[in-house]
Amino acid sequence: MTRRTKIAPSILSADFGRLADEVRAIGNADYVHVDVMDGHFVPNLTIGPIVVEAVRRVTTLPLDVHLMIEDADRWVAAYAKAGADLIGVHVEACPHLHRTLAQIKELGKRPCVVLNPATPLESIEYVLADVAQVLVMSVNPGFGGQSFIGSALDKIRRLRKMIDERGLTVDIEVDGGVKLDNIAEVCAAGADVIVSGSGVFGTADYAATIDELRRRGDRARA
Ligand code: DX5
Ligand code: ZN
Repeated sequence: MTRRTKIAPSILSADFGRLADEVRAIGNADYVHVDVMDGHFVPNLTIGPIVVEAVRRVTTLPLDVHLMIEDADRWVAAYAKAGADLIGVHVEACPHLHRTLAQIKELGKRPCVVLNPATPLESIEYVLADVAQVLVMSVNPGFGGQSFIGSALDKIRRLRKMIDERGLTVDIEVDGGVKLDNIAEVCAAGADVIVSGSGVFGTADYAATIDELRRRGDRARA
């Protein structure tokens, strides 16, 4: 039986001046996706552990923290302490990826490995059994509101095959340019968890959009 599609709205597109209200308004989501950028690994700078802590206080949803930072080893403990449930680190930013993922697990959090659009699946072959989730980027990280990069669909299909062939229970999360009009093809390719920033926060009724995204995702995955 196919598991329900999980929807993870990215607060990058939320109104940061009213962040608590914005987070409460997505209470029917499955995760809150939190984009952490350091101005080095990606050309944008967002939030740190104190904001994650603040988000933790206003929701009971699991926090899916996407670290787009250099030197992740130095920071994972701080994000774990701030209340992250899943912690995602980029293959391209972690020279000792296996160790970083192990560190996340030792902190009692769910490790997620993240791939940029140009990074091949082969780069995660030897850590696939050690993660709870693989995040396939379908835009180049750094900004919300970019267009979906089509080659991600083939990557999702191949990853789905890799996971199923090995009998693993790793979730595939897809991040970037996914909205109501293309969630079906992303889920049909094999995605379990959908990140959507502008696709949720750019609509009038966030909760209704989240329900509709999940409905379209479930139908495509059935
Ligand atoms: C991009 C971030 C995404 C972003 C997605 O670097 O990782 O989570 O917020 O935004 P949309 O859904 O607008 O492409
Ligand atoms: Zn993200």
